[in-house]
Amino acid sequence: MTDQCIGETRTMSYLLHPPLLDESGVASAAEWYVNGFAQRSGVSVKLDLPKEKLRLPPAVELTLFRILQESLTNIHRHSKSPSADVCLTIESRRAVLSVKDAGTGMPEHFLVRFHRDGTGAGVGLTGISERVRELGGHLEINSSSSGTTVMAVIPLTPEQIEYVDISATAKQHGSAA
Ligand SMILES: Nc1ncnc2c1ncn2[C@@H]1O[C@H](COP(=O)(O)OP(=O)(O)O)[C@@H](O)[C@H]1O
Ligand SMILES: [Mg+2]
Repeated sequence: MTDQCIGETRTMSYLLHPPLLDESGVASAAEWYVNGFAQRSGVSVKLDLPKEKLRLPPAVELTLFRILQESLTNIHRHSKSPSADVCLTIESRRAVLSVKDAGTGMPEHFLVRFHRDGTGAGVGLTGISERVRELGGHLEINSSSSGTTVMAVIPLTPEQIEYVDISATAKQHGSAA
């Protein structure tokens, strides 16, 4: 039983903060997480990522990853949607992450409270919203009986975006580019 606990704790901490996030950034971590999620949940996920390989400040990457995890977990737990659409775009002055489903929509009482004072029944979206606000951004939720969209906008400065030269990385690792 102890071994099982240790094993499960490892898996959980790995899912909470995968090493891939620090090593390769939020886009790679998102790809990895989405694949695992789709397999575990049976929800088919379409993932749109920036074409260029880039890195953002660690706090922004971690927050984006948390939003992805919480939104997809919510879709699986609450929405009854067979599918999800995830889109991450990085512009020179902001990162935008949207996660959309075609499910039942959120309960009215949650939406009312969330839009009034940013709180609600659950801790998940409230926590996410606080993290986003700490970074100077905001979290929008649109929900109706035809589905829910969670969209986070986080401001960036052009200096905070680091473009990664893929051929340089490949050379560093000793493989032909
Ligand atoms: N994608 C979704 N589709 C339908 N309902 C949702 C969705 N995401 C969240 N909800 C509803 O909003 C509530 C609050 O979500 P959240 O803050 O993540 O808390 P939790 O998941 O812990 O209940 C959920 O309890 C659920 O009723
Ligand atoms: Mg939740």
